[in-house]
Amino acid sequence: MPLVASAPGRVNLVGEHTDYNRGLCLPLALPQRTTVTLTARDDGLLGLTSAQEQDGWEGSVDDRPSGWAAYVAGVVSALRNDGYDVPGFDAKIDSDVPLGAGLSSSAALECAVATGAAELLGLDLEAPDLRQRLVRACIHAENDYVGAPTGGMDQTVAMLGSRGHALLLDFEADAGPSVTPVALPLADAGLVLLVVDTRVSHSLTDGSYGDRRTESARAAEALGAASLREVSLADVDRIDDPVLRRRARHVVTENQRVRDVVSALGSGEWQRVAGLLDESHTSMRDDFEISCRELDLVVETARSAGALGARMTGGGFGGSAIALVPAGSLDDVRRAVTAAFVDAGLREPLHLVATPGDAARVDSVS
Ligand code: GLA
Repeated sequence: MPLVASAPGRVNLVGEHTDYNRGLCLPLALPQRTTVTLTARDDGLLGLTSAQEQDGWEGSVDDRPSGWAAYVAGVVSALRNDGYDVPGFDAKIDSDVPLGAGLSSSAALECAVATGAAELLGLDLEAPDLRQRLVRACIHAENDYVGAPTGGMDQTVAMLGSRGHALLLDFEADAGPSVTPVALPLADAGLVLLVVDTRVSHSLTDGSYGDRRTESARAAEALGAASLREVSLADVDRIDDPVLRRRARHVVTENQRVRDVVSALGSGEWQRVAGLLDESHTSMRDDFEISCRELDLVVETARSAGALGARMTGGGFGGSAIALVPAGSLDDVRRAVTAAFVDAGLREPLHLVATPGDAARVDSVS
């Protein structure tokens, strides 16, 4: 009997490249989801097909495929290493999370597979800590199997996200992040969170993301600190190397912006939220140097066309930007951004509206 499980993509409101620096971030689950339809098999094989890919893949649970199949096989392998006796299965995958857009299509796939596998094993998804264990398996799959040296933001929000809320994640502890839902009443405030996919595809395995991770570690080391979490702005000024100093300044100020956004949301000060998004973008463009021409174009154009604030989101070097837009200006902003891309000779960007969606779940067991 097939079972259907799904998990969402995510967009990050603020707090970029902070998760692997033991810092803070504030992502939300998207309404766009990846769905897996699973049927157990008794020959120990995985048979994978995807509506978004031409070729399927079949192999044993101990094989190491490359490409998209690695996300599935990686989760199975990580769960088995964690002591779960995941059987072979057929999986049909489908997704409306845009691929390569910096919206965590890979975490959505990992978390959908982990959720489906937990159901195949008869586990209770609401049991204490099970979702956190699944998150850890998905992060292992991404880091050790696919080889993307990412932090844990994407998998955590895909597995634990909450409708109507962003999640304040604090990665200070070794055991995993603390998770606090933060209400995001966008519609009540007459606002829309617009996501613009530049269609500049980025890969988290191409080296640039990993370079920032290494630079962050070197900046902390230069100060004798275990991580940038424990570093102050005054400390940052003591770093001799100007590049490492800039990298550290981004992380330290970004952690503070996450705290400030949470506090501004609590008091309904949306203009202040928007100002902090703008500051975050400047910090990523100038200090962390992970923006690109297309992301800057979205941010600048959206602001001139009526957005209250805007920033690139996700790992950077392409992918998506977000803009906080009064509902009445949404069409103007979308039109202006598309026109700016056409004028610059770029491919038209894709627009979607982010409302905070549900976490990974089992959709049906028939
Ligand atoms: C990617 C990674 C996350 C995080 C962001 C940047 O999405 O997967 O772990 O580091 O980039 O904030």
